[in-house]
Amino acid sequence: MAKILLRVNGASRTLDADPQMPLLYALRNDLDLRGPRFGCGKGQCGACSVLLDGHVVRSCSVPMAAVADRSITTLEGLGSSAKPSVVQQAFIDEQAAQCGYCANGMVVAATALLKSNPHPSEDQIRTALAGNLCRCGTHTRIVRAVQRAASQQA
Ligand code: FES
Ligand code: FES
Repeated sequence: MAKILLRVNGASRTLDADPQMPLLYALRNDLDLRGPRFGCGKGQCGACSVLLDGHVVRSCSVPMAAVADRSITTLEGLGSSAKPSVVQQAFIDEQAAQCGYCANGMVVAATALLKSNPHPSEDQIRTALAGNLCRCGTHTRIVRAVQRAASQQA
């Protein structure tokens, strides 16, 4: 065990944790942040996606030792029900979810995409989100949501 400083959504917390424990476990179990979801646990589905220093990572596959004192943003740090981000609102407006299990990771990945490429083509959106799996086949609506967000962001 080691004391590890986490900076999550602008707040700092020091946890006593196994340095090899996946970040996802600390976010969900210790910090009660349920935006990142446990899907495969093997880095293959994207449900657990968070931003680490602005880049998408799969929190199930990132050990605590790798994130100490770095900036982590979860879905909760992007916006809230009362004040959703542009991307979150676009997902709502396009009804881009069926079961919704993939949606949190999709929103995080789409947010990172639009930050690096504010006006992506449809192909670029599909490529950026290709590693985020959706078992419900909601991809068409998800792509529309990202296009809507791109057209609405400042
Ligand atoms: S739960 Fe992390 S990639 Fe699937
Ligand atoms: S909406 Fe069900 S997994 Fe994507």
